[in-house]
Amino acid sequence: MDKNFPRDLLLQPVGERINYFKKKSVAHPTLVNSYINLMEKVEVVEEGKVLLVYGPSGVGKTTLFAKVKNEYLQRYHDEMVKDKGLIPVLAIEAFANEDGKFDWINFYTEALEELKDILIDEKRLPLNELGVELPNNPNEKTKRKLRKSLENAIKCRKVKVILIDEAQHLTKVGNSKGLRNHMDSIKSLAAKFNVPIILFGTYELLSFRNLNGQLGRRTMEVHFPRYNSEEQRDIDAFKNVLWFFQKAFPLQQEPNLVDEWKYFYRLTIGCVGTLKDWLDNTYDYIMENNVETKILKIRDFKKFEPTIDQAYIMAKEITSGEKSLTEKRKEKEGKLDALLKLDQLDDIEVKKKNGNKRPGERKSKRDKTGTDL
Ligand SMILES: Nc1ncnc2c1ncn2[C@@H]1O[C@H](COP(=O)(O)OP(=O)(O)OP(=O)(O)O)[C@@H](O)[C@H]1O
Ligand SMILES: [Mg+2]
Repeated sequence: MDKNFPRDLLLQPVGERINYFKKKSVAHPTLVNSYINLMEKVEVVEEGKVLLVYGPSGVGKTTLFAKVKNEYLQRYHDEMVKDKGLIPVLAIEAFANEDGKFDWINFYTEALEELKDILIDEKRLPLNELGVELPNNPNEKTKRKLRKSLENAIKCRKVKVILIDEAQHLTKVGNSKGLRNHMDSIKSLAAKFNVPIILFGTYELLSFRNLNGQLGRRTMEVHFPRYNSEEQRDIDAFKNVLWFFQKAFPLQQEPNLVDEWKYFYRLTIGCVGTLKDWLDNTYDYIMENNVETKILKIRDFKKFEPTIDQAYIMAKEITSGEKSLTEKRKEKEGKLDALLKLDQLDDIEVKKKNGNKRPGERKSKRDKTGTDL
């Protein structure tokens, strides 16, 4: 591939070129796989299931969220033209309060706004002059009212799927009972309307995993991982991403990012979103301030690089998320086997293999299983 942008862009104003690069997106393997995996699971999802999509910060989760939203809008485009009231996808972000806790009232309000519910303010109970809501726990009342309205709006708008970004904020409750209540609320929304709910978030979402058996059966998961330098395949994929972008800068002369892949990898921990933000900032700056040279050098990237401290914190967070993913699985597998006595079965089988049989003794006949009836 020669350049990865239309040649006449070089004759366009700086703003056009910056915009072009900002919008340039790459269909890299982990994004594509996560998307396929997610869409396959949504297709087979039974009514009322909750899907958890988790990955490191800056890997591209919001990009995936937007891709799923677009897919639904395209899929229902014709129906939307015919039925102006139809909103097939409710896509919202979960915020945490100033005190770091998740707030259902804000969440329901935002969801209702998204569904263009016009009477939201009337559903909020009045505040007194100090701006504090009236006593007797009006918050609970407001919450119930808003939830009811949301349920109506979801029905009226014929919503097919609910997407929640930054869903790790839903886990900000402080205790496991609260956590279970939050998941119950989400799950009951999904169950009530037979729509899947897809939660996108960081590894903190893992605390929602299998809160209890019933919730477990109602959740499915998709992991959107970063590129891991322990895998050659991942290194190659990360280099390909760099190659794609170095060819996409609307510049006369192509910079060489691939040869410096370790530098870019170290400070992004293999997360494509973090990388793209960094490249965007650098290109933006060079175009605004240094157009004459039309060259991007590694020293230009250094101006906008994530600091070593930031990278270190990111790497610690990410690797501990990944660890809890694999370690907990192994630990749970062991416990599950013990519970089902599968571990003892292994011992018995080993003993059997090692010869309970005397020489010449015939093998006992195995029952026929697993054949057609
Ligand atoms: N495949 C891609 N191609 C081009 N740009 C991308 C791609 N993936 C992500 N980006 C860009 O990188 C930036 C960060 O990505 P995004 O917001 O999707 O990551 P995230 O995982 O949601 O991060 P956070 O954990 O901070 O919410 C965004 O500006 C986004 O447009
Ligand atoms: Mg995001």
